[in-house]
Amino acid sequence: MTKKVPAVSSKIPVMLHGADYNPEQWLKYPEVLREDIRMMKLAGCNVMSVGIFSWVSLEPEEGVFTFDWLDHVLDSFAENGIYAFLATPSGARPAWMSAKYPEVLRVERNRVRNLHGVRHNHCYTSPVYREKTALLNGKLAERYAHHPAVIGWHISNEFGGECHCGLCQDKFREWVKAKYNNNLDELNHAWWATFWSHTYTSWEQIESPAPHGENQVHGLNLDWRRFVSERTIDFCQHEINSVRSYNSGLPVTTNMHMIDGVDYRELAKILDVVSWDAYPDWGYTEDDDDSRLAAWTAMHHDMYRSFKHKPFLLMESTPSLTNWQSVSKLKRPGMHKLSSLQAVAHGSDSVQYFQWRKSRGSSEKFHGAVIDHSGHAETRVFKDVAEVGATLAKLKEVVGTSTPAETAILFDWDNRWAIKDAQGIRNSGLKYEETVLQHYRAFWELGIPVDIMGSGDDLSAYKLVIAPMLYLISEENGKRIERYVEQGGTFLATYWSGVVGETDLCHLGGFPGPLRRTLGIWAEETEGLHSRDLNGLVMKTGNALKLTGDYDAHEIAEVIHLEGAEALGHYRNDFYAGQPALTVNKLGAGKAYHLATRVKDAAFYVELYAAIADKERISRSLNAELPAGVTAQKRTDGEHDYVFVQNFSGSEQSVTLDGQEYTDIESGAAAPAELKLPVNGLAILKRKSATV
Ligand code: GLA
Ligand code: ZN
Repeated sequence: MTKKVPAVSSKIPVMLHGADYNPEQWLKYPEVLREDIRMMKLAGCNVMSVGIFSWVSLEPEEGVFTFDWLDHVLDSFAENGIYAFLATPSGARPAWMSAKYPEVLRVERNRVRNLHGVRHNHCYTSPVYREKTALLNGKLAERYAHHPAVIGWHISNEFGGECHCGLCQDKFREWVKAKYNNNLDELNHAWWATFWSHTYTSWEQIESPAPHGENQVHGLNLDWRRFVSERTIDFCQHEINSVRSYNSGLPVTTNMHMIDGVDYRELAKILDVVSWDAYPDWGYTEDDDDSRLAAWTAMHHDMYRSFKHKPFLLMESTPSLTNWQSVSKLKRPGMHKLSSLQAVAHGSDSVQYFQWRKSRGSSEKFHGAVIDHSGHAETRVFKDVAEVGATLAKLKEVVGTSTPAETAILFDWDNRWAIKDAQGIRNSGLKYEETVLQHYRAFWELGIPVDIMGSGDDLSAYKLVIAPMLYLISEENGKRIERYVEQGGTFLATYWSGVVGETDLCHLGGFPGPLRRTLGIWAEETEGLHSRDLNGLVMKTGNALKLTGDYDAHEIAEVIHLEGAEALGHYRNDFYAGQPALTVNKLGAGKAYHLATRVKDAAFYVELYAAIADKERISRSLNAELPAGVTAQKRTDGEHDYVFVQNFSGSEQSVTLDGQEYTDIESGAAAPAELKLPVNGLAILKRKSATV
């Protein structure tokens, strides 16, 4: 039996349900706190994140600390069975600090220092900022680390951004010096600095990229991004150390949110629990139903779970609309429950919102919240939230269960940065993230669980590894993938893979560089296609995957030569018509597929991965035909499986179950053989796990 590992603690063996809570905005309204507690219970909420932006309410003047209000909030929580993630408030700072210590303010790429204002605009290097955060965090830890309501630390808020101040420049120079062994020659080679006479002759000449300065040395750009990511993680570690000074064993997390400047896989390593903020703009119906967005969100849930291979937390989501998307549509009936439970299906042990109560003023006053300005519970949103609370209460046994996957899709931060920086084959859009999604979505449609991994991770446990556009890959990671295949793994890579190494220097001797032997091909030329250009992938009759299609392809095409691989399909048009476009290479005990062009038809990916999954005996969460836009995802404790069947298709659907006995966990009744799913409908089914 698989052990259960709850995201937070086995002392709280329930699904967490709650929100960001800002009582400090309402201290002049004492009735509000009392009413909040009553309504939290009514909504089935059991956890709140408090203190996220409370610095000025905790330290109104330098060295003067006011904890009374927070004592009162946390004590009231404890009396009422509500838990708290206690935040460190470093996401925004008081005006007195910026006025007295301007070094805490961030300097932008143009080298202009920000004025005081907004949030997330501090320097991660500033000794003053580090000292001030350590002091206040230490006081919070001293006072609350053993408070009965507090179950974890919420470190700061959505770390991100970069600072170009003198302190950060000095740190960057130290960082590159260490990386290049104090050897400028090494750095100049790694950055290919003789290009345009950019050779550095002293460490002092090294500066972060700037719009009015250096920005064409890709090795510099990439190293700067790595440095910024490491600096941010180092700051987070500094905050963690300061709350851990009062050792209470509380787990730490920080909320992540699609910020591409921080390598979250690395950040996750210093956390006990991974949490993230998901804000899909459901109802995007102009040319699509919600299923593309559902797959996109699912992929992110899977990624956050994969960082630690254990349950994560959905730290924020909106109960209705946001205040920052271009158009803020209300969630359609059913969507709140469906999207909340989607997170749980992919491994979350919580559903949490931004925010509990709408602010009365300032920029987030129209952001969705559990409690609206009307102040009562008689709203559609409140009822939706309470319904989720009631469902989560029935999922106690799901807490801590795992989400095993036999397939991994690779997604690396430095690859993403390097692809975006490269100038070349298609400056109008290489669409890296969209490509990862294109591959992921097929698995989502098939109900096949996926982990999102890094190319440096141990991949030996997976039957299948997919690498969409693995443009940057080091020799070392290339070798690891080669060994993975030799030892029996199945691998698939696409066009624009194996092009550059760790410092963005092109691999010499032919692409796909360190993957060439694995894939058994040589990519001689790669072209970008105009949006109006169309090519196609025509499958060969009798190919090993038994695919019969003639699929449209567009945007990118690579002209490849076979070097041991076998062609499964070829190009339809142009001067390279008839040349291979999909290949497979046998290597050792495994095989490696290569897709040379971006196939446009979504059906291709579903057919391709269904065929590979069948060949490699990769199991699905549910052995049933799933209509388009309907997915099934599984959590398990080894004894029972919990299958979440979700309908994002925008229309009513039905799914014929596979004949096993299923219980509908919400009603407690046996599930019918023919499962009916209304628009935005969901069923949570329990079955005995298969004995292997
Ligand atoms: C982010 C922040 C929150 C809030 C929400 C609004 O996720 O963490 O403080 O601003 O956005 O959607
Ligand atoms: Zn700085």
